[in-house]
Amino acid sequence: MSKSISGFSKLSKAQKIDWLLETHFLDKKNAKRILIQYWNSDDKLQQLHDEFIENTITNYYLPFGIAPNYLVNGKLFTIPMAIEESSVIAAASNAAKFWLDRGGFKTKVISTTKIGQVHFMFQGDFETLKTYFNAIKPQLFEDVKSITKNMQQRGGGIIDIELKDKTKDLKGYYQLHASFETLDAMGANFINSCLEQFAETFKTRALSFDAFSSEEKNIQIIMSILSNYVPDCLVRVEVSCNIEDLNEDATILPEEFAAKFIQAVKIAEVEPYRAVTHNKGIMNGIDAVVLATGNDFRAVEAGVHAYASRNGKYSSLTHAKVEHGIFTFWMEIPLALGTVGGLTNLHPLAKLSLEMLGNPNAKELMQIVAVAGLAQNFAALRSLITTGIQQGHMKMHLLNILNQFEANDNEKTTLIEHFKTNVATHNAVVEALKKLRLTNYD
Ligand code: HMG
Repeated sequence: MSKSISGFSKLSKAQKIDWLLETHFLDKKNAKRILIQYWNSDDKLQQLHDEFIENTITNYYLPFGIAPNYLVNGKLFTIPMAIEESSVIAAASNAAKFWLDRGGFKTKVISTTKIGQVHFMFQGDFETLKTYFNAIKPQLFEDVKSITKNMQQRGGGIIDIELKDKTKDLKGYYQLHASFETLDAMGANFINSCLEQFAETFKTRALSFDAFSSEEKNIQIIMSILSNYVPDCLVRVEVSCNIEDLNEDATILPEEFAAKFIQAVKIAEVEPYRAVTHNKGIMNGIDAVVLATGNDFRAVEAGVHAYASRNGKYSSLTHAKVEHGIFTFWMEIPLALGTVGGLTNLHPLAKLSLEMLGNPNAKELMQIVAVAGLAQNFAALRSLITTGIQQGHMKMHLLNILNQFEANDNEKTTLIEHFKTNVATHNAVVEALKKLRLTNYD
């Protein structure tokens, strides 16, 4: 049985590893070898990674790949992607290539507002609370001046603060609901610092607000925190072409391709089981770029899926139509991203990714990330409605299966060739490898 430990955080890295090996592993030598294998030989770089998080004992690599040929608003990009799943980058590259000759991706940032809330309990008269809020509002802005000064100079800051009555949902529950423009920063620290100061001002000043009864003076702050739901931090991405230009696959007529594609999207619009997988495919692209550029993919995931449910039912993020002979496929998606602060300037690969993209500002990055999402969905749907997903996916996954069975370079070359003309399933690959090994042995 595992044992608990107090003061673990104060141990050195070596001591933490020793404790782990002692507590959880029978083959300590092997476990230590694996941990050390992933250390970086550059001590400074390793220390940087150690200090990103707490209790670091090693690094966990993800492959970092690139998808070229992305034409976005007339400009060519190579998109960096950090992801472990085979076929995602091939699909991204394939979709980029497809749309390169058909006008590329058109994008537009619709809005960039972010939200933060002070959640509090108040037992008293709402009208008096409203009077207090209106009286105190200028002071709320005044007391955060030292925090907002630089952001304001750059053109951002607090847009507004509203008082919200939430007592229909929960007895005594109210909010200060604040909206922010954080420009090129994701803004979490800026927003949270402002909110905590609002809470302090709001609570303290209430004590001397004469119109409050002694009970009303006692505003109870529950918490102050930004929201990762950002339906007003929205970007639109679209591809379109004449229907006859969807003609590159000889096995299906363009009209049939468009009709099946639109039905596939409509199914994801009405059927939540399908919508979740459909949107997962979109997030294959989005998460990979968000990660590669040092942004917070958990925040993006949470916000995107909430947005996909905004009408009360989980639904597709993408949409498709044919009008006047033009096929259009598009998506509007909320993305709170930063190109300054956080890991973006600290992680050397995040920095490199941003440089690869021409050092975009946050609005430009929103557009590139959205493009990666739409492209990924296009590639997946294109496969799903024609060959089926497994053909392309297994073609890419083949190396993983071969590695799992420790195939050598010759075996890999032979079997990659073999599966160019044979259907690759897990079983078929294992059988072919067995057969090859028997033949080689004979
Ligand atoms: P293909 O037509 O067999 O590829 O497609 P190809 O060998 O003819 O090459 C054409 C282009 O594809 C290449 O052009 C590349 O752009 C790209 P080139 O570079 O030669 O000028 N490409 C590659 N790029 C990098 N490395 C490679 C590579 N191979 C091709 N090795 C492909 C093969 C896999 C691209 C295609 O079948 C495809 O797009 N499939 C979709 C795969 C997919 O969506 N994978 C995501 C994982 S599955 C999933 O999680 C989501 C899902 O459930 C979501 C949903 O249900 O909606 C599907």
